[in-house]
Formats: sequence, structure tokens, C-alpha cells
Amino acid sequence: MEEFHKVRRLPPYVFEQVNRLKASARSRGADIIDLGMGNPDLPTPKSIVDKLCEVVRDPRTHRYSSSRGIPGLRRAQASYYARRFGVKLDPETQIVATLGSKEGFANMAQAITAPGDVILCPNPTYPIHAFGFIMSGGVIRSLQAEPDAGFIPALERGVRHSIPKPLALILNYPSNPTAHVASLDFYKDVVAYAKKNDIIILSDLAYSEIYFDGNPPPSVLQVPGAIDNTVEFTSMSKTFSMPGWRMGFAVGNERLIAALTRVKSYLDYGAFTPIQVAATAALNGDGADIAEVRDIYHKRRDVMVDSFGRAGWTIPAPAASMFAWAPIPEPFRHLGSLEFSKLLIEHADVAVAPGVGFGEHGDDFVRIALVENEHRIRQAARNIKRFFWSSAKQPNNVVPLAAHR
Ligand SMILES: Cc1ncc(COP(=O)(O)O)c(C=O)c1O
Repeated sequence: MEEFHKVRRLPPYVFEQVNRLKASARSRGADIIDLGMGNPDLPTPKSIVDKLCEVVRDPRTHRYSSSRGIPGLRRAQASYYARRFGVKLDPETQIVATLGSKEGFANMAQAITAPGDVILCPNPTYPIHAFGFIMSGGVIRSLQAEPDAGFIPALERGVRHSIPKPLALILNYPSNPTAHVASLDFYKDVVAYAKKNDIIILSDLAYSEIYFDGNPPPSVLQVPGAIDNTVEFTSMSKTFSMPGWRMGFAVGNERLIAALTRVKSYLDYGAFTPIQVAATAALNGDGADIAEVRDIYHKRRDVMVDSFGRAGWTIPAPAASMFAWAPIPEPFRHLGSLEFSKLLIEHADVAVAPGVGFGEHGDDFVRIALVENEHRIRQAARNIKRFFWSSAKQPNNVVPLAAHR
């Protein structure tokens, strides 16, 4: 049977192939160390879970909730932006709660996109950044992911050569998968260009609090006047280890927030009230839980960079996010990221995410998620070292005989 129009535009998840291989290795009894999925493994802090349990006992909270978020939750998000970024937001008109930032992003795409609208999107990037718009009838023009001196010229080329003129530009720093972080000066240049060219900015700041070495990433909304054309998405999934709770936010330009709020009012009744109340308590907390989560990822990062380095795999230390963007070691690079990821499962019992799953420009890399404990990360490095050694000793190097690109 012919696939449906929208389904045809959603290619099978590349990660699915790795997941299948992982499952079959596990069914054979292999102890796979899973650094593939970006699924935080840490438990949600006890105070947040306790708040949920307390509130859920009140039957009044069992009714439909508020789609845009209960007022206290939106006020708590406004306080967070004021505290953390010095950005003042009106909780009534400039903030909407979302069912995770992914839902917010996808429904923003739905709210603003007309068929054929062009969206400037980093490549590689987190898949919803492109596919949220593709599902909404938009067309993607890829941009480099690095927030360096080449970005504005690439942006200018993208705008000059797009018909119609692009509707929106996606930013995601700290980036998933590349872990790049943008500076406030970078944002200033991008905002100035986007405003001059009447382009909407959608910034995904899901990793606002997962940063290392004392360098908190800025918000694009810190740029004076950015709110005229910008919406930013944040998430409680990583900051508070609440991925399954589905709680995030969109904040910024009133017209864009109103459009998203309207679409959501047709689609959902908001998160379960006890979740919204517990999320409010989390945001109003003293920050100790956030610091603890950050510290755990920081230690894991250091262990990963050190132990993988000693295994012969030099990986740049990410400055933020819960990922390392690891160049495929030279002898394996020609295989591409999917085949290399398969080899790591089969020969090292380690799962990583193939870079090509985030876009064609990711194919020389794999993404390593810091979602196993330090002991398991060291074990992964030992397994990989053994695999590198054994493949180097093969007379004709069996590795390249695996399916070529
Ligand atoms: C860049 C980025 N944005 C959004 C999300 C989704 O976050 P949420 O759980 O809030 O939907 C993720 C999750 O991995 C992410 O990496």
C-alpha cells in the first residue's frame, strides 16, 4: 500500500537500526553499555517526586489542566529567566508551558508554517528541528552547525539563494549532537541579521543548565530587542532529570507564543496538574539539585575524555550538553557512522548514536551520551581499546570488509 503523504516524509529512524542490533546483542546475553540514547539515567530529585505524590492525592488535580500551563508554573519560568539570564518576561503573554520542548517545537512549526516555507536549520541537528517543519509542509535549507566566523556568511548565502525568503532560523546551542556552545556576541550578530531580513529565530536551549567549567551558556533573548522575532525553548528533562515527565517551555515573542498557545489549545489540556505543580516547585528551588546533576555529567565527561583517550580515541571535551561529538577514528572513518556504530556494538559491546542520524554532515562522527555511570564509561573504554587492538592486528584489517558506504 502507498505510504501516506506525511509518513513518506519521515525516513525510518537511523537509530532504529542500532537499537535493533543492540536488542539482538542483549538477547544473546551481551552486556551492552548504552551511550547511544540521549535519555538521562539519573532519578528525578526526591523533593520533586515528593511534591508530585503530595499533590496527586487531591482529587481536584485529576481534572483537565490548563493547556498553556497553570499561572504559578508560568510565573516560576519567568523568575528563572530573570534570575539566570536577566531577561524579563510577562508570564501572561510571553510564556507557554509545553509537553516537553520537543512537543512545543513541533507545534510551533505547525502553527507558523505554510506549505513550501523555507526553514534554515543546522546540519547535523536534533531531528525534530528539521522534521517538525517537514511534517508541517516546510522545506529545509541546511546550515553549518558551528557557531563560528563562517556562520553569518553561510546564513547570508542561505537567505540569498532561497525562494521564498526563509521564514525561520533554528538555533540550538549547546547543540545536540555537536555540543557547540554559542557566545552572546554570536547571538547579537545573528539577531541583527535576522531582524534586518525579517526572519523568525527559534532557539532550542534544552541544555541551558548542563554546562561545565563554570561557563553558563547564554540565552539569545539576552540580546536587546531579540524578543521582537525570537522564541526560545527550554526543557526540564535534563535540568532536573525529568525526561519522562514531559515538561518544557516556549518563551519570547508574544505573537509567536500566541500562535503556539492557540494550536495547543486545540490539541491538549496541558500536563497533568500534579506534574505542573511539582515542576513549579522544582523551578522555584534553590538550584542545589541542578548543581548536583551538572556535577555528575561533568565527572562523567572527564572520565570519558580521559579513558577513551587512553584507549586511543581522542575526543574533544564538550563544554556543555550531555554529549561528546566524537570524530570516528581514522582507520574506520571511510565506513561511515552507521557501520562504525554497528561494529562498536558487535565487537565492543558499546552503543553510540551514528552521526548520520542527525544529518548528512554528521557522518564522520558518532555521538556519545553521558548516560552511564563512571564505572561503565571506563568499562566501555576498555572494551573499545580491545576492539581497536584486535582490528589493528587483523592481517588484512577485516574491518573495512564490513559493508561499505
Ligand atoms: C536539543 C534538544 N531539544 C529538545 C529535546 C527534547 O527535550 P524534551 O524532553 O523537553 O522534549 C532534546 C532531547 O534530547 C534535545 O536534545
